[in-house]
Amino acid sequence: KKILVLNGPNLNLLGVREKSIYGDQDFVSFFSELKDEFPDVDLSYFQANSEGAIIDEIHRVGFEWDGVVLNAGAYTHTSVAIADAIAAVTTPVIEVHISNVHQREEFRHHSYLSAQCKGVILGFGLNSYRLGILSLMLS
Ligand code: DQA
Repeated sequence: KKILVLNGPNLNLLGVREKSIYGDQDFVSFFSELKDEFPDVDLSYFQANSEGAIIDEIHRVGFEWDGVVLNAGAYTHTSVAIADAIAAVTTPVIEVHISNVHQREEFRHHSYLSAQCKGVILGFGLNSYRLGILSLMLS
């Protein structure tokens, strides 16, 4: 299976940013662990801080690949455009979050993306990404 892990804004700062919420591991080292754990999956990683670059990436993979595990960061709570991109493609998209957004500020409780995604996994730390990949492997 060909799966893209797609991270949005500020997730390039994992391991540096708000460690009490997001942990102290950087994503590049975590992603290399994922590659080792899922040797049968063709896993790629892309991160962008801008909305348009995330949308372009969804378009690029969204008709051929087997799945996208998407953490859109704060765009989750603001972006109709990313929601429309997910709706436009045929590849299933799994929404993931490191933190349990429902335990946090009110503005993080709503996601524009969830209704267009196959499913949502949140609150399990970096394990949310593992669970996202597993969910795609089960289908
Ligand atoms: C996040 C939650 C978002 O509310 C926040 O803006 C992020 C990270 C998470 O993974 O917990 O950047 O998506």
